[in-house]
Amino acid sequence: MDGNGRWAKERHLPRIEGHRRGADAVKRTLSAAQKFGVKNITLYAFSVENWNRPKDEVDALMSLLDRFLQDQLPELIKRKIRLRVVGRFSELPENIQNRLHQAEEATAAFDEYTLGLALNYGSRTEVVDAVKAVAQAARAGVIDIDKLDYETFRPFLYTRDMPDPDLIIRTSGEFRLSNFLMLQSAYSEIHFTDTLWPDFSEEHFEAALKDYASRERRYGKTTQQLQNA
Ligand code: IPE
Ligand code: MG
Repeated sequence: MDGNGRWAKERHLPRIEGHRRGADAVKRTLSAAQKFGVKNITLYAFSVENWNRPKDEVDALMSLLDRFLQDQLPELIKRKIRLRVVGRFSELPENIQNRLHQAEEATAAFDEYTLGLALNYGSRTEVVDAVKAVAQAARAGVIDIDKLDYETFRPFLYTRDMPDPDLIIRTSGEFRLSNFLMLQSAYSEIHFTDTLWPDFSEEHFEAALKDYASRERRYGKTTQQLQNA
């Protein structure tokens, strides 16, 4: 979800106004996802690198998140969407942790739709956390390191119970992944759009899905193999 700051700057507004409008785009996107039958969606809301922003912007983002969680919990319950935090949870402010805990618990039983919130997320941090957990499990005799493969490694990632993304949408005209789901995106299709996140609408979402539908996913195979299968 990129481009909130530029959206605000174009209008001579403070950056936080862009973030506020970004939160509205999140609400639109969640209802569009259900309309289009997209069952799992993960929003990159705050990266481990975002702590390096000016303190007042970080504080404003956290209070926006706090309010968003408070306002949207009834909506998640109404829409039967399970909330899952993807990121290093323990380093988030305590009030946010409490709200997230509450939202995860209140929505834990929903098994059709999942909203992942990538918060204090970075792929490199995720891999390091996973490797540490693997080492501990090996030391405790729970796993056999010699038998470790990607299938047995996968449950140590933050996304343990979520499918890999089929499609990644990056807004605001930037062409990079910025430390987002680097392992999980190994075979993801990527859609780039110049649209700034606060302007992202149902129409932009539909365009991204159409673009996705036009791709041929070969997973290392040849076109002919796919046609014969
Ligand atoms: C939102 O957009 C992303 C968040 C970290 C919430 P930005 O704040 O990165 O917007 P730009 O890149 O400055 O336009
Ligand atoms: Mg940005």
